[in-house]
Amino acid sequence: MPHRRDFFRLGAISLGNVFGLALAVPGVKFLLDPLGKKAAGGNFKALASLGQLQVGEPQAFAIIAARRDAWVKYPEEPVGSVWLVRQPEGAKEPVVALSAECPHLSCPVSLAADRKTFLCPCHGASFALDGGRLNEVAARGMDALPVELSESADPEVLVKFERFQPQSSKKVPLA
Ligand code: FES
Repeated sequence: MPHRRDFFRLGAISLGNVFGLALAVPGVKFLLDPLGKKAAGGNFKALASLGQLQVGEPQAFAIIAARRDAWVKYPEEPVGSVWLVRQPEGAKEPVVALSAECPHLSCPVSLAADRKTFLCPCHGASFALDGGRLNEVAARGMDALPVELSESADPEVLVKFERFQPQSSKKVPLA
């Protein structure tokens, strides 16, 4: 027959296990957390209002995001930039967003002096305003990014910033 002291001892052990488990769960979650995090900058960000953009005149916008590595979240800072090109009335997409990261070796792509093409200063890759290649330096054109417009009189232009592997003829997202 169980002794009363045994009963209390078993109760204390069970209570200790419950507390131990309660403390261990957040610790395990903390250790596993990086596995479940999305890549920085994976969401749509408002970069401009549609009215701010002139048809056929590319404008560059910085992408500001909080960088994080496995366990540390750093303050917000520029993590890249995007060229927005407003399209003429009736075009399939009202705005084209192109990553400014050169698909050759990731230098920032600039607007050429003629303002009608893009030029990468590092090795001379040249692109049309729709991001298409104008020479063979890069293996693919500039990377187009998904764009959405908010519902308002002067819609916000929302862009999903993503990075892709350089030196590949295909757009392969970086993890
Ligand atoms: S990095 Fe752009 S041309 Fe080489």
